[in-house]
Amino acid sequence: MTSAPVVQSPTLTVQKVGGRIGAVISGVRLGGDLDEVTVAAVRAALLEHKVVFFRDQQHLDGESHEAFARLLGTPVAHPTVPSVDGRYALGIDNERGGRANQWHTDVTFVPAYPAFSILRAEVIPPYGGNTLWSNTAAAYRDLPEPLRTLADSVRGVHTNDYDYAATRPGASSAALEQHRKVFTAVTFQTEHPVVRVHPETGERTLILGNFLQKLSGFRAADSRALIGVLQSHVERPENTVRWQWRAGDVAIWDNRATQHYGVDDSDDHERTLRRVTIDGDVPVGVDGRRSVLLAPESVPEPGHGIASGASTDGAVAEA
Ligand SMILES: [Fe+2]
Repeated sequence: MTSAPVVQSPTLTVQKVGGRIGAVISGVRLGGDLDEVTVAAVRAALLEHKVVFFRDQQHLDGESHEAFARLLGTPVAHPTVPSVDGRYALGIDNERGGRANQWHTDVTFVPAYPAFSILRAEVIPPYGGNTLWSNTAAAYRDLPEPLRTLADSVRGVHTNDYDYAATRPGASSAALEQHRKVFTAVTFQTEHPVVRVHPETGERTLILGNFLQKLSGFRAADSRALIGVLQSHVERPENTVRWQWRAGDVAIWDNRATQHYGVDDSDDHERTLRRVTIDGDVPVGVDGRRSVLLAPESVPEPGHGIASGASTDGAVAEA
C-alpha cells in the first residue's frame, strides 16, 4: 500500500475515530480562502482515512461550500438531479426523497464518477439520521487471496435504473414516480472493473454498491451470489465508521475508496444536507482496462455546469 504524504500544518489536528476508517480534523475553518498548506494536509488526511469530519462549520453557505470544494478539484453537477439553488450543491433532504439507505458509492453509473463528496449538515433531526462509511480498500485487503484474484479479473455493469421500488418498500407512489422522472431521466449504464487502482494512493479498491446491476459474463444468480460475498466484506463493521451529525458538521469522503449509507431512522423529522461533488477520473482495473460507458453515447450536459462523469475521454464504448 502506498501511504499518503505526511503534511504538517501548524494548527490542524487529525484524530482517528475508527481503526480502519474515519478521522476528525480540528483547528480548521473551511472556506475558499484556506491556505495551501492546510488544504494539502486535509487532502492527505482524506486519502489516508477515507472520510474526514469537521465540527462547527456553521459559517459555510452554498457559495463558500463551493469555494472550498474548488480547492480540492472541479465541482460537478449530478448527471440527472437538478441542483436546488443553481449552484453545484445537491440537496440531500429526506422530504424530497433524498434518503440513501443503501450502501453505495456516489454516481458510479457514469465512468468518471466523483473523486470526493463534501457533505454539509444544515438541519439535523433530534435523533437518528446517522451516516455510515466503509473503507473499500480495507474490504479488498480482507478478501482471501483466491477471491482477490477473482475480483481483480471481473467487471460489473452499474446503472441508475435499479429497482428503486424494491429497495424502498415504504415509498409512496408519488415518490416512486418522482424518482422515475428525475433520477432516471436518462438511463446510464457503465461497465467498471470490480477492482480499481486508486489514482492517488495506488491502493486497490472495490467498485460495488447499489448501482451495480450485474457482473459481466455471469448468469444472474451467480452474479448476485458473488456480489453478495464481496459486498459482505464492505459491510463488515470493522471496515466502517458511523457519524452522528450535528448542524454545521462537514464530512468529506474519498468516493473512490468508500461506500456510504444514510440511515433512514429519524421518522418524519427534517434532515437537510448539501453535497458538492468533485470530478473524478475514469477508473482503471488491475489489468489496465478502463471503465466504459455503455449507454447513452455520451453523458448529457445537465442544466447547470459540467456533469459528473463528463470527463470520459476514451471511456466511451467503441461499438
Ligand atoms: Fe450518496
